[in-house]
Amino acid sequence: MFRLLILILAVGFSSVASRHVNFYRNDYTYVDEFDAFYKLHWDTSGTDWSSGFLACDDEGAELFYPKTRDEWTVVKKLVKAIPTALNVTDIFVGIHDKFGVGEFITINGYPVSSPVLHFDRPGIDRCVTMDIESGVLDANDCLAKPGSTRPFVCKKVEDVSCPTIDKGYQYFKETRKCYKINKKAMNWSKAMETCLMEGGILLVMESQSEADILNRNVVAYGTNYYVGFKKLFNEEYYTVKGRNLRDTGYERWYQHNTRNECGIIWQASNNDGIYMDSEVCSNNYPFICEMTVRNE
Ligand SMILES: *[C@@H]1O[C@H](CO)[C@@H](O)[C@H](O)[C@H]1NC(C)=O
Ligand SMILES: *[C@@H]1O[C@H](CO)[C@@H](O)[C@H](O)[C@H]1NC(C)=O
Repeated sequence: MFRLLILILAVGFSSVASRHVNFYRNDYTYVDEFDAFYKLHWDTSGTDWSSGFLACDDEGAELFYPKTRDEWTVVKKLVKAIPTALNVTDIFVGIHDKFGVGEFITINGYPVSSPVLHFDRPGIDRCVTMDIESGVLDANDCLAKPGSTRPFVCKKVEDVSCPTIDKGYQYFKETRKCYKINKKAMNWSKAMETCLMEGGILLVMESQSEADILNRNVVAYGTNYYVGFKKLFNEEYYTVKGRNLRDTGYERWYQHNTRNECGIIWQASNNDGIYMDSEVCSNNYPFICEMTVRNE
């Protein structure tokens, strides 16, 4: 019992330290729809494509280009939010043919998904601009015309990865957690120990939406899985993150009358979702470990 408490405290601290915040830098704006951070460089320094490329690189970001059909609208919104308008209609984007291969590619080496106007316009240096109002891409010079400027946008995508090389862990964006089912059945303490050895912890479901994700993607019908709650002080259930199960955001019991020591979950049916139950801790079951994703 004493050892378990120590464990709970230690794990509690580490999960606080790695809690996610939607933050990259003060000057970057997070856009939910595209799950990325953006910054408009709206000044007169944007006169050549390379300086935009390098400025973004300096900020640990990359020169923006629309990766999906609608992403250009982010730029329009960012420009609208600027109080002092410059007389510009286009920005440089991260598409070029700097290598002179005769094909436009994105700065990270992908083919361009939308058409580029004036693709074969002669006598130009081959960098791509984007019309702020329409998102239309246009082949252009890599230098803005004398006296004019082409702003640009830097974009930062979060580098999300499960903090392990164990391929059994699967990442889910909605909860910012990785989950793994360990199929080898063990008793509850061995299951907990195994998760810890892997750098994780037994699963603690913290919301209805997390339960929905697990229901749809992770758990299989009819199997008991050990998860991270256990009866403490002979009384109430506490999670391995140190909180009363009541306060974790998801508590849904199948049977209230057979309360054993160790927590399990099981899926009644896909439509009915996940129930909690309790079992004798020395029984062997497969179990689910979770890992919280850290921000790079
Ligand atoms: C803005 O740019 C357009 C086209 O380049 C030009 O005709 C117009 O005079 C400019 N307006 C200002 C206020 O500089
Ligand atoms: C759990 O399993 C381990 C290894 O098989 C064993 O040493 C331990 O006593 C078991 N604990 C319980 C509570 O059953």
